[in-house]
Amino acid sequence: MTRVLVLQGPNLNLLGTREPAIYGRETLDEIHAGLASRAAELGLEIAFYQSNHEGDLIDRLHVRDFDVSIVNAAGYTHTSVALRDALLAVERPFWEVHLSDPGQRDAFRQVNFLHDIATASLVGQGARGYHLALEAIAARFGGAP
Ligand code: DQA
Repeated sequence: MTRVLVLQGPNLNLLGTREPAIYGRETLDEIHAGLASRAAELGLEIAFYQSNHEGDLIDRLHVRDFDVSIVNAAGYTHTSVALRDALLAVERPFWEVHLSDPGQRDAFRQVNFLHDIATASLVGQGARGYHLALEAIAARFGGAP
């Protein structure tokens, strides 16, 4: 069974109350519950990890107990050469997800260290972006229809 890791970066633990006009009212636990049930339908194994610390995200990737990942690196998207290097080092494909569309926001969010190495990017669709990534993974790597 294809193993999917959902990696969530800094401040995403505050979803639900964090700038709801931008990120919505759904909490991270609610998003993860929705993904867990969709993964079960699709026949995918899924695990979740959120951290506010760059090195912890990198250490989690180094475990390599997954076949593919869905990554919302949050603010580290725009700053982290180290996270980019880790994603390349573990040699697993990943789908990049952002709830908002960073490309339509502040100039500093136009810098993206992950976009060109992601298999695909889903932006500006809220939690639906994670579901689209999961469905694309099921289509590519198998799982129940
Ligand atoms: C985000 C977009 C980033 O620019 C921001 O730093 C975040 C969340 C998103 O999901 O829209 O923390 O990754």
